This record gives sequence, structure tokens and C-alpha cells, in this order.
Amino acid sequence: MAGFTLHKLHDSFGAEIRGLDLSAPMDPETCEAVTQAWLDHLILLFRDQDLTPEAQRKFCEQFGPLGGRLRKAEDRPEGRDAENIMLVTNVRKNGVPIGSLPDGEMFFHHDKCYAPEPDWGTMLYAMEVTRVGGHTLFANMYDAWETLPNDLKDRIEGRQVLHIYKYLPTERVDLKEDIDKYDHQWQPIVITHPKTGRRALYVNELMSAMIEGYEEDESREIIDRLVENVKSADVIYDHKWQRGDLVMWDNWCTMHARTDFPRDQTRMLRRYTISGQALSA
Ligand code: SIN
Repeated sequence: MAGFTLHKLHDSFGAEIRGLDLSAPMDPETCEAVTQAWLDHLILLFRDQDLTPEAQRKFCEQFGPLGGRLRKAEDRPEGRDAENIMLVTNVRKNGVPIGSLPDGEMFFHHDKCYAPEPDWGTMLYAMEVTRVGGHTLFANMYDAWETLPNDLKDRIEGRQVLHIYKYLPTERVDLKEDIDKYDHQWQPIVITHPKTGRRALYVNELMSAMIEGYEEDESREIIDRLVENVKSADVIYDHKWQRGDLVMWDNWCTMHARTDFPRDQTRMLRRYTISGQALSA
């Protein structure tokens, strides 16, 4: 093993890696071992890290080119973050959030599923965390697919799903709206992970709007059943943040959500993504 130890976070997936200082470059053997651990465990946690934006960027770039932002800078509420970096924070200056995704609960979603080439990975680093709430929940979507009842599998196998993002944390698009206003993309409803070859359910609560070949009501009923099935299966890891945590997750085979937290407690995390590719069934 390349100088680190692995500790399981949940029966189904997730591992903490101990023994690495992420501010130092990894040698090729360590990088390969971390990449393999990431593919095997889906999300990795590193505690007690001290990372400048530059150090975090360099760590991320060891896994591939950084992902960009879809929204143009002038359309983003903060308008300030650089192309590849996102501050996830409720800190405000003159009443205006200085970053993105500032407050409260977020429904389950896959980052960038509404883009033609969804990012592979997301790396979120905690600089300040709340005393209460603000956990990130992760779901293992390989197991979500494997544990799905056969009748549901049959209803979705081979179909596409339309993902739309309204840039709101708990509000889905109403299909009566003009969806061209929002970033949206049809994707296979079950994808084959490009790096592992495993099949993963690719449906989420916030952004999945419509399944091909069904009327709107039936499509909504199926999406709701799929999401409820994931929530009730034992495939969710609840991450309670500590300052200095870096969590990296695989967006192709996990989805994530955020629990509510008090507005008067500061939460500040820094996020980079690793770019991805088009996904196929
Ligand atoms: C995100 O969805 O990328 C943010 C998650 C969080 O704030 O915990």
C-alpha cells in the first residue's frame, strides 16, 4: 500500500484515507493507489488537511483536467468565483452571498448531470463548518440500481431521463415553464460508469424532470419511486463535516444532498471539480 491506510465509512461504500498530506504532491504510485481507492469506494475522506486554494487545485489536477462552470460569471449570484473554483458558503458581504449554494437544505442531485459531459469528480474542502446540521448525504447509485425492485428496473431499462437545473436548492423545474431558460440534458437513466464498467442509476430528486416515453404524471411517479427507493435502501452515508476535511466524490455513481443548518452559523467550503465526458447506457 502506498503509504496510507483505508478505513470504511459505511457498509456500502466510502473510505477515509489516513496518512496523506494533500498539500504535498503525490508520487505516481500513491496517485494510482488513491485513484483506485476512489473507484472502489466512490467517496474518499481526508481529515485534518491544511489547503490553500492553490494546493487544493494542484491536488485535484492530479486526477485530470479541472471542470469549468456552466453558468456565465455575470449570471452567477456572486459573479466572483473564478472559472474552476466555487466557494460554497453562506457568508455575505453587504447582504449578498460571496459564494454559491449559500443556505439550508439541498435535494439529492448529481453535479452537472444537466450538462453534455458531466464532471467525474467533485472535491469539497471544509474551511468553516456549522455546529448543527449542514451535513452532506451521499448515496451509492451502483447499489441503488442493483437493489431496485425488478418491476421498476423493467419500467426504466433502456430509457433516457431529462435533467434540468433551475439553480435553486429545493425547487424542481415545472415542465410548463420554458425549459430552454435552464441548463438541461437528456442522459441514460442507467449509465455504465466509464472507468469501472459498472451500472449506476442516474436519477435524482432535484434535477430529474422527465423520463422518455411516459406521460408527465407517470414519469413523475416513477422518478419519485426511484428516489424514495434510494432513500429507504441502506445506501446513504451521512457526512458530518469537520474543519480541514476534504471529501472527493464520484459524480457518476453517487448523488448527494445537504441537510438544513442555522443561517447564523458560518459555513465555508471550497470546491473544485474534475471534468468528465459524455455518459452512455
Ligand atoms: C454541493 O452540492 O456541491 C454542495 C454540498 C454541500 O454544501 O454540502
